[in-house]
Amino acid sequence: MADVHLDQAAGLRRLSAPRSVKVVAITGGKGGVGKTLTAVNLGAALAGLGRSTMLLDADFGLANVDVLLGLKARLNLEHVVAGQCALEDVILTSTSGLRVVPATSGNVSMATLSRVQHAGLIGAFSQLLEPLDVLLVDTAAGLSDGVITFSEAAQRVVVLVCDEPASLTDAYGLIKVLSRRQPSCRFEVVANMVDSAVHGRELYEKLMRVCHRFLGITPAYFGYLPNDEYLRHAIRRQSTVVEAFPSSPSARAFQRLARIVDGWEAPAQARGGVEFFMERLVRPDRESLAGMQ
Ligand SMILES: Nc1ncnc2c1ncn2[C@@H]1O[C@H](COP(=O)(O)OP(=O)(O)OP(=O)(O)O)[C@@H](O)[C@H]1O
Ligand SMILES: [Mg+2]
Repeated sequence: MADVHLDQAAGLRRLSAPRSVKVVAITGGKGGVGKTLTAVNLGAALAGLGRSTMLLDADFGLANVDVLLGLKARLNLEHVVAGQCALEDVILTSTSGLRVVPATSGNVSMATLSRVQHAGLIGAFSQLLEPLDVLLVDTAAGLSDGVITFSEAAQRVVVLVCDEPASLTDAYGLIKVLSRRQPSCRFEVVANMVDSAVHGRELYEKLMRVCHRFLGITPAYFGYLPNDEYLRHAIRRQSTVVEAFPSSPSARAFQRLARIVDGWEAPAQARGGVEFFMERLVRPDRESLAGMQ
């Protein structure tokens, strides 16, 4: 009986004082620019700092977070939505302590869920047993509705870019679309597969200059990731480089990025909890509808 009361008290505390979570979408526009690698390694590095971190695999077409981490996903959000299991049953925990929500197959779009399913999903996240410090969202390549919706619901949008014309063009296209839809969007550019810190900064400046000139915005520089053979070794081992080779150049770079994320302020508003991210996600048209009334 006492336990029931303790559970209820804990539940009420969660409801009355939701902990703010930093929600960070990992994007890039182009395929193969290092989004998923960044998501899993940044997540592992944050977990290593002792931050409660969750990674939501939102690449519905080519979901591979679980593969990169050597995890076996049996259930996913679709099962939660269908009421077949609880969110906690879906969550996998990697060796670093990073928690992972595997992707759905893509048959169910967040946008087409019924009201009851929306409410169920939001409720599931609000009842997470352990509050979160950071929620990372690995997005798909391209500019599909899913990528846009997840990025708009996040507080920061990390944009991976490599030093090749198609990557720069796609990163610019992504920033253009998102900034037009949501002028308050905060972009954080990561220069990936570069030879040096100087090369990283030059690549960032290339992208920043076109954004400044044609869109009137200046995305921030988050940092660079070196082209690193250790990273490829870690992939073959289905591990993160942060765990497998912690003093390699790329592991150090991910640790640097994690410390930066750790320094970002959490949303100050009361509606900063993970359930409110889900709410923004499943009801992206709420504000525009309110504006029309
Ligand atoms: N810094 C790096 N050093 C070495 N190899 C890298 C680096 N970044 C990316 N790669 C290589 O690029 C491949 C693709 O990375 P990743 O799967 O993270 O890209 P992605 O952007 O998520 O792709 P997709 O768009 O298909 O989801 C990796 O398997 C790896 O071989
Ligand atoms: Mg990917």
